[in-house]
Amino acid sequence: MSNWINVAKTSDFLPGTWHAVDTDRVSLLVFNIDGKFYAIENLCTHDGGDLAGGWLEGEDIVCPRHGARFCVKTGAVTRAPAYEDLTTYPVRVEGEMVQVQDQN
Ligand code: FES
Repeated sequence: MSNWINVAKTSDFLPGTWHAVDTDRVSLLVFNIDGKFYAIENLCTHDGGDLAGGWLEGEDIVCPRHGARFCVKTGAVTRAPAYEDLTTYPVRVEGEMVQVQDQN
């Protein structure tokens, strides 16, 4: 069963920003990259760092702990010390609301 969770209104969600969303089972980050929305798990695959405290470099989120990078669009690792990709989650816009699905 799909479970869509409200993240933010599109009008409150500027390009280059992200919102953290905690579900019953996972912590997610939802990004606006040039007007399109993407979601990844908020858990660095190197050593469990909190990516919400990181920063964007282009389309990559940088982990604040040791500097690993992940593509926000695909979850792929783009720089060590992480070697395992992040899980991504579906995102949609319903009316004015950005929603993320708590399943993949
Ligand atoms: S925990 Fe993210 S780079 Fe080490």
